[in-house]
Amino acid sequence: MNRVLVIGSGGREHALAWRLSQSTTVEQTFVAPGNAGTALESGLTNVVLDVADFTAVVQFCQVQNVSLVVVGPEQPLVDGMVDALSAAGIKCFGPSAAAAQLEGSKAFAKDFLKRHQIPTASYEVFTEVAAANEYLQNQSFPIVIKADGLAAGKGVIIAEDLAEAEATVADMLADNKFGNAGSRIVIEEFLSGEEASYIVIADGKTFIPMATSQDHKARDNGDVGPNTGGMGAYSPAPVVTPEIDQQVAEKVIQATLDGMAKDGHPFVGFLYAGLMIDAQGQAKVLEFNVRFGDPETQPIMTRLQSNLDELCLAAIDGRLDEVSCDWDERYALGVVMAEKGYPFSYDKGHAIHGLDQMADDIKVFHAGTASKDGDVVTSGGRVLCVCALDEDLQQAQSKAYEAVKQISWGSEYYRTDIGFKAIR
Ligand code: AMP
Ligand code: GLY
Repeated sequence: MNRVLVIGSGGREHALAWRLSQSTTVEQTFVAPGNAGTALESGLTNVVLDVADFTAVVQFCQVQNVSLVVVGPEQPLVDGMVDALSAAGIKCFGPSAAAAQLEGSKAFAKDFLKRHQIPTASYEVFTEVAAANEYLQNQSFPIVIKADGLAAGKGVIIAEDLAEAEATVADMLADNKFGNAGSRIVIEEFLSGEEASYIVIADGKTFIPMATSQDHKARDNGDVGPNTGGMGAYSPAPVVTPEIDQQVAEKVIQATLDGMAKDGHPFVGFLYAGLMIDAQGQAKVLEFNVRFGDPETQPIMTRLQSNLDELCLAAIDGRLDEVSCDWDERYALGVVMAEKGYPFSYDKGHAIHGLDQMADDIKVFHAGTASKDGDVVTSGGRVLCVCALDEDLQQAQSKAYEAVKQISWGSEYYRTDIGFKAIR
């Protein structure tokens, strides 16, 4: 029986830990640091651990006989958590620091895609304002400007005209508004179409798709307003037709795994390709993430029926071809309830009401929550993700929103149209 440690504190980690705890081959699931949702979940135990201190994580794993560590967020992966734990003989699921550069550096990812002829927007990389501005003079608009490093989802600006593009270049390269992440930038062609997330579990050579999904990155209904980490998601996503599925599996995912292996950094972990699918059904890579998506994880984990720990261990051992993955055929749809003000500044500490009267086919995953004096209180921008399952996507949507309406803390904000592209 496995003893598992999940690293992270968001909705993604609540969903991963919840699914792991239900595995028939898991006896104990720890979450470090977790949130109020993982604290309340039967079968999960929050642990106080500085997850940036890899020596402390190794010690915890040794004392607790942890047989599998699953890392939720990108930062510890980019910082080398898998390398450090593996060196101590602990099975840690995720890419090495070298392979995590696919997310850690957009310039690395773009150069990789180009070198291996994987479809993506055309681009150039700059470190100097003058060279970037000179390049911009001959481009068409809108154009996309990206900070190279990790910027918590805020490092991508779509500039509508030359003035906005030059101002963004100045913000990133001269004024350091994105910190070190913006000391190098990628300027790339604007792609239009419909976005989809394609997430797989990979063992360095082969992969198993983790079900299709679609995120809703814009804050407001109809995909307008500022970009966020994601305001809701559903799975499966019909935009990924069987033809697109096959195209992406072969020309994007397998090509990426082959390229990474050839370059000496075999990719083990969850690999997430953010895609733009054009009107002709051609998919191009917008970005890679080297981890599961948040909020895509929440509906996807609601549908996963296989033992997640066994999948992760098979990937670490390079034998994914020996296992398979079963899914609940129903649609899962998750609505993110955020604190008003997100993704900018917002309050914390509001007591959340209505959490304990949910129907059986509803699962509420916590993200920015904490426990205080016996209450569950808000402690982040994205607070909850309310997921519902149904054979019919529209029904799943109605159920999720019925549950959302039962929950309140006075300043909640959510989109009321999650799933609209597949329902309209
Ligand atoms: P990224 O973090 O690179 O996925 O970018 C965040 C968001 O910016 C994406 O989800 C897209 O909505 C948008 N975006 C990024 N690159 C492009 C592009 N080349 N063309 C159009 N939109 C883009
Ligand atoms: N939902 C987008 C992400 O996790 O990056």
